[in-house]
Amino acid sequence: MSGPTQKVLKPGDTIGILGGGQLGRMLALAAARLGLRCHVFSPDPDSPAFDVVQNATCAEYADVEALEMFAADVDVITYEFENVPASAALVLAARTPVLPDYKILETTQDRLAEKDFVSKLGIGTAGYADVTSPQTLRAAIAKLGLPAVLKTRRFGYDGKGQTILREGDDPEAAWQRLETRAAILEAFVPFEREVSVIAARGADGQVVCYDVTENEHRDHILKVSHAPAPVSDAIAEEARRIATSIADALGYVGVLGVEMFVVPDGSGARVLVNEVAPRVHNSGHWTLDGASVSQFEQHIRAIAGWPLAQPLRHGTVTMTNLIGHDVDDYAEWLTVPGATVHLYGKRTALPGRKMGHVTVVEADTSHKT
Ligand SMILES: Nc1ncnc2c1ncn2[C@@H]1O[C@H](COP(=O)(O)OP(=O)(O)O)[C@@H](O)[C@H]1O
Ligand SMILES: [Mg+2]
Repeated sequence: MSGPTQKVLKPGDTIGILGGGQLGRMLALAAARLGLRCHVFSPDPDSPAFDVVQNATCAEYADVEALEMFAADVDVITYEFENVPASAALVLAARTPVLPDYKILETTQDRLAEKDFVSKLGIGTAGYADVTSPQTLRAAIAKLGLPAVLKTRRFGYDGKGQTILREGDDPEAAWQRLETRAAILEAFVPFEREVSVIAARGADGQVVCYDVTENEHRDHILKVSHAPAPVSDAIAEEARRIATSIADALGYVGVLGVEMFVVPDGSGARVLVNEVAPRVHNSGHWTLDGASVSQFEQHIRAIAGWPLAQPLRHGTVTMTNLIGHDVDDYAEWLTVPGATVHLYGKRTALPGRKMGHVTVVEADTSHKT
């Protein structure tokens, strides 16, 4: 069954966003600047995106009537998180175009399907194996060696649903802790750095990538991003080529983030894909203040059927996440020269919760002639 096809939006048209977190909020703000309205659908009454839109539906994803009313009110539907239930996406897609195509979620919601998909494109990943029991975990360890990372196939984020297995650890105990029967074991990648590429693909198949970004994680959560990443031109080119081929192979429309490891390889380095995020991505937040057009606007342009931008980077950019009580320092950040502060309006600063971010742009001294 094929649903309604994408149409070209006009200013004044309405975009439906599934999910009400900070990504939805920043998408809605970017849409507003282009004269487009947004309607946010989220089950959480405290959704940060509700604060910045006129139309909001607070309902469960299983509420078919609410989904139908939402679909009837909007011209195109997109999402800010990858765990949109397939049943909800089906109801919506039968009525209103959903972009990127929700069928992509079947691949990106499942770490095993995602790694199989990326490998079939001839792109490198960590070695991996399907794990469904303590026995298959032992077999996977025998195949991949230790250390290794045991991850749930679905619903993991910010390091949740994963555990590192080292020599001497009890695989049985790690398996019990994961509380699932669908997991993947990945060989531990001794990476030199972690990078990502934020790519946009338009309905016409054009792909535009931002500069490769270097990402530093603390406690498995992104803490700082640097753009451009300090990698060779060859590595940057390879990273963008990988993101482009993934976007093309998915027939993607919108912005996606591809997380990668740069691994030492003899005298050089090579790039492995870690994860594909079918949405705007935290490591692209620097584009709000550090580029002429942000990842959020680029996504809105793509799903509106509008031309993509060729974004210019304004300098060397550092983005720092304000996680949990980091946000208590917001007043100090407000006084930092060159800093731009973004607060998401979340009420409670729980540990690990992304409360805001700060961007600092410095004049680029590395311009090539
Ligand atoms: N196979 C691996 N080897 C080394 N580090 C890893 C591996 N898998 C994950 N990590 C580390 O854990 C972080 C979070 O893992 P990831 O698979 O991206 O899950 P999440 O969905 O939580 O972002 C990565 O950014 C990386 O720092
Ligand atoms: Mg990740």
